[in-house]
Amino acid sequence: MDIKIVMLEMNAQNQIGWLAIEEDKTVGHIFMRKEPDKTLKFLDAWVSKDHRRKGIYRSLWNTRWQYVKDNYKGWTVYAWCRPPSLPLLLEKGFLKGDTCVYVERVVEDDLPRFEKCFVSC
Ligand SMILES: CC(C)(COP(=O)(O)OP(=O)(O)OC[C@H]1O[C@@H](n2cnc3c(N)ncnc32)[C@H](O)[C@@H]1OP(=O)(O)O)[C@@H](O)C(=O)NCCC(=O)NCCS
Repeated sequence: MDIKIVMLEMNAQNQIGWLAIEEDKTVGHIFMRKEPDKTLKFLDAWVSKDHRRKGIYRSLWNTRWQYVKDNYKGWTVYAWCRPPSLPLLLEKGFLKGDTCVYVERVVEDDLPRFEKCFVSC
């Protein structure tokens, strides 16, 4: 596996990214965003399905972390994690906050509860 990590400095949204490239194809990425009050948000970690569990996320993470240590000493870093990305952040010394649960619904008129209930006798 010959993976190259490239830094992507974007001219908008205060974001910087790191791309994992294999043969001119992006197989993974992570980003960070500068926010007010000396805060950095880590976001958008992704590795393509057929390249997972080979250490690409770890390599991207370590590269970003070195950059942050070199340039943002004293700032606070936070992230929202899904189960696969949480263990690495805990390993790296991040503290676990409250758990959030994703919810959704289709927008429609709210019907009284009994009109939705199907009763078979
Ligand atoms: C999360 C994701 C980026 C991990 O990428 P990856 O290249 O497979 O991860 P790595 O092989 O570098 O693993 C690094 C560490 O992450 C953790 N990890 C990775 N995949 C995991 C999984 N499926 N379950 C639990 N922990 C996982 C482990 O701690 C692992 O360390 P280890 O190999 O020593 O056990 C990848 O699974 C992905 O893109 N998932 C879909 C998008 C997503 O959930 N992104 C996170 C948004 S918050």
